[in-house]
Parts: sequence; C-alpha cells; structure tokens
Amino acid sequence: MNLINLKDENLFYIGGVVRDIILGNKSFDIDITYVGNAIEFAKTIPNAEIIKINEPFGTVKILIDNKEIDLASTRNEVYPKVGHLPQVTEIGCSLKKDVLRRDFTINTLAKSLKTGEIVDYLGGIEDIKNKIIRIIHDNSFIDDPTRIIRGLKFSVRFGFKLDEHTKDLQNEYLNNINYDMSYKRVKKELIETFNLNSQEAFERFFSENIYKLLTEKETIAPKYNIQNLVDKYPVKDIWLVYLGWMNLEKLPLTKRESKIISDYNYLKSQKLDDDYSIYSEFRNCEKESLLLYAINIDDKKVSKYFEELSKIKLNLTGKDLQEMGIKPSKEYSKCFEYILREKIKSPNINEKELAKKFFKL
Ligand code: CTP
Repeated sequence: MNLINLKDENLFYIGGVVRDIILGNKSFDIDITYVGNAIEFAKTIPNAEIIKINEPFGTVKILIDNKEIDLASTRNEVYPKVGHLPQVTEIGCSLKKDVLRRDFTINTLAKSLKTGEIVDYLGGIEDIKNKIIRIIHDNSFIDDPTRIIRGLKFSVRFGFKLDEHTKDLQNEYLNNINYDMSYKRVKKELIETFNLNSQEAFERFFSENIYKLLTEKETIAPKYNIQNLVDKYPVKDIWLVYLGWMNLEKLPLTKRESKIISDYNYLKSQKLDDDYSIYSEFRNCEKESLLLYAINIDDKKVSKYFEELSKIKLNLTGKDLQEMGIKPSKEYSKCFEYILREKIKSPNINEKELAKKFFKL
C-alpha cells in the first residue's frame, strides 16, 4: 500500500506509520524519511512546491498533487542535556543510524516507497507480532523520560505489554528521576495518553509510579471510574479530568487549563448545600472542573446539575416584563435571577406572579 505517489529508492515511510500499516490501524500522521538530505532532494522533485524548510533538522514540507507532505532527512542525534530536546549531529546518515535514535522497536520500521519492502533492523515486526514494547538501548529513559509515558500510551492503545527489561529500566528511572526535563514534552505525551480516555492508563499511571515524573510527593489516586464519567459527559480536555486534581505545577498550562484547575479548587472550598448554590457556582465553571468535582468530592451534585438544574430555563422574557409595564433596566436581570432561584426551589412557580412580587406591582 502506498499512501502517496512519490517513488525514489531513498524514500521510506518511517516510525509509527509503518507500525500502523502492519497493525492495520489508521495513522495519526505519516512520516517519510529520505536517506540523505531531504531538502536537497525536495528541490529536485518535479511538480513539488516547497512550503517550509527547517534547515537544522533537515526537514521540508512540500506540496505535491495538492497534498502536503513532510519529508525528513535521515539524522543522528545526541542528548547534550538529558531529558531535553536532542541535538542533531548528522544529517543524511544511514537508515540504520536514524532508527537507532528512536524509542521502541515497534517504532523503528521503515517501508520503502519504491518497492514496499519493510526494513526491520531491530526486530520490530516480531515485537508487533508478540505485542511487546521494547526500548532499543538502556539509556533510552534517561535520555528522554517522556518515553515512559509513551510506553504507557502505546501499551494501552494497542493492548501491548512492556518487555521485562524495559519495565526494569522504567522502574529504575522512576526510583531516581532527574526532574530537570522538558515538561512541555511531558505534557504533550500526557495529553495523548489520557485523551484515549482509558481507565487502564489512569490506574497504571499510579500503580507503576509513572505519576512521579510530575511530583515528588506521594500521591494516591481517587478510586473512581473516570472513563465511564467521560463517556457520559464528553469534554475537550479529557486529560485534565484525569489529572487536574493532582499537583501539576511543573507543567506549562494554557489559560483555559489553569482556569479548569482553579475553578475546581474554588468549587472544592464551597459548601454547595442547596440546589441554587450548586447551580449558580457550577454554571460559571468549565465542564472539566465539574467532572473533577464529581470524581473527588461529590458526583451526585454534578449529575443533578447536568441532568436537572442546568436544564431549568425561565419562560418569562424581557418582552413579557415590558408588556407588564416595567421599563427596561438593570433590575431586569436581578428579577430573572430571583425567579430562577425560586424556580430551582419549586419548579411549578408562576413566573409572572413572581415578577410582579419582585417589582412590587
Ligand atoms: N520518537 C522517539 N522518542 C520520542 C518521540 C518520538 O524516538 N520521545 C520517534 C519514534 O520513532 C516515533 C517517531 O519519533 O515513531 C515519531 O513520533 P510521534 O509522531 O510522536 O510517534 P508515532 O509513533 O508516529 O505515534 P502516533 O501514532 O501517536 O503519532
């Protein structure tokens, strides 16, 4: 199967895409590598328009037959500062050197665009067959601890197991974490892992102590089926529903993500002992914060809000008030809030009567 119409003996699909072809899964992205300098090669392709070049990484984006394709040069890398971005040491190295810098054997396969042949230097096909996740060298997690989270992600996504030695090295690293790492990369992997909405990933994140990458403090996870909750109430930032209750101060967060966490912490400090207070506090919060509240504090209040309280709407409109002879003013919204409060207490109230009472008519 060729995914694009570009043939050259030096071009290979590489990494996750080949793994996914073998597994019969759809790939999230298609990586193609050129054995040699991809930028120079791209300039020679007829009908290809070069859109973007990243010289230090030897990558190039081209447009061909109306399709955008990312081409990477084979490259070798070192980690001058472990836990951070690697540095490119050689562009245009051999295919073997290129795959040796990667994370797991299942991600080291290359498939020729010209012949369809699969190049497997490290036993990746066998590991896919046996459903094994195996690192390539013993320093892998030290170089890049985000690979521990990636291992969990692939394991859960494909139903694969970590090979014993890989597991031992993971434990060794987690017992001796170097916290000087790129938390931007950690965050990216956490998002991809937890957005799978998998209870298994959540439980293993804690039982295997992977959470220790985020905090030095002993942390006990809530016993709650978050997967079911998210299935019932879908949200954008699933990962924060799983992790927003714990210490995430090492992660770079967006405004919305910080709001989700601060809304949750605020809700935690509120009494919320009647329906109106639940309604009036919950309505200003992100949905993710409410799910965090459900998991950690009280899920009955949250389901009551979603199923009942949030659906309560007033029938009375501003037009009705005008027709009752009340001049539009700021008092309108106070009146609506007053009626809403009463309606939450007793759904069958007469809204017009209450408006009259409010305006003392
Ligand atoms: N890679 C790595 N170490 C990392 C991240 C990536 O060695 N910390 C390598 C892997 O070989 C991987 C490739 O870079 O296959 C591309 O990375 P990415 O797109 O994140 O992985 P995919 O395997 O394509 O995963 P996905 O299917 O989730 O896109």
